[in-house]
Amino acid sequence: MMEKIVEVLPDKEGLIERGLQLILTKIERAICDRGICTIALAGGSTPKPLYGAIATQDLPWDKIHVFWGDERYVSGDHPDSNQRMARQAWLDKVDIPASNIHPIPTDGETPAADASKHETQLQEFFGIEAGEFPQFDVILLGIGDDAHTASLFPHTEALAVQNHLVAVGNKDGQPRITFTAPLINQARWVIFLVAGASKRPALAQIFAPDANPLTYPARLIQPQEEMWWLLDGEAGAGGNFDGGR
Ligand code: 6PG
Repeated sequence: MMEKIVEVLPDKEGLIERGLQLILTKIERAICDRGICTIALAGGSTPKPLYGAIATQDLPWDKIHVFWGDERYVSGDHPDSNQRMARQAWLDKVDIPASNIHPIPTDGETPAADASKHETQLQEFFGIEAGEFPQFDVILLGIGDDAHTASLFPHTEALAVQNHLVAVGNKDGQPRITFTAPLINQARWVIFLVAGASKRPALAQIFAPDANPLTYPARLIQPQEEMWWLLDGEAGAGGNFDGGR
């Protein structure tokens, strides 16, 4: 039975501080219970200061494995790369083994080939067979103004993918590589970080009693265990967060 927790923090700084606290708690719990923590990162701008804050922490970096929930289909050193953002804000600043960092490949023949390659990489890392879904400890997510999450954009083919871990996303014709909804929903702890008034209409639809998840893809995220929504005051202003799926 999923537990959904919504917290509205006073401002962006409060959101980042709370996000840091929560993530540190989950990292410690995962390492205590299983010896390692697997965490998949969100891209975009919201989490960048959070990654900078994590980099200031004294953590057992050899026990933390970092993945990405989605990636723009650009080289790893491109300004739009989610990998580049997280490396600059966090990973390049700490003593984490290179083998603990698992970027989504974007240098193959096609986006579909790279999606398939990353699926194989995940299967090998978690020691699972095709058709099985691994359980990440933490998956961090944001939402767009259109209620997309990861690179699961409204009315795109990736929303329907149920039998794969990774799919090709599509943002206005631009290819992305994304975790699928069923993979995200296997996670122990899904944490959304949302900031800014522009996200209010999307949040209203995500938390509405009934709305089309193909139009508001973040509604597809219904993990089995814990789903956290950390909102800053602007995003959370006036919202009713009791409903939703
Ligand atoms: C990406 C993200 C995407 C992001 C949202 C919110 O690759 O851009 O993974 O899903 O989380 O678009 O982005 P902001 O944090 O910049 O608002």
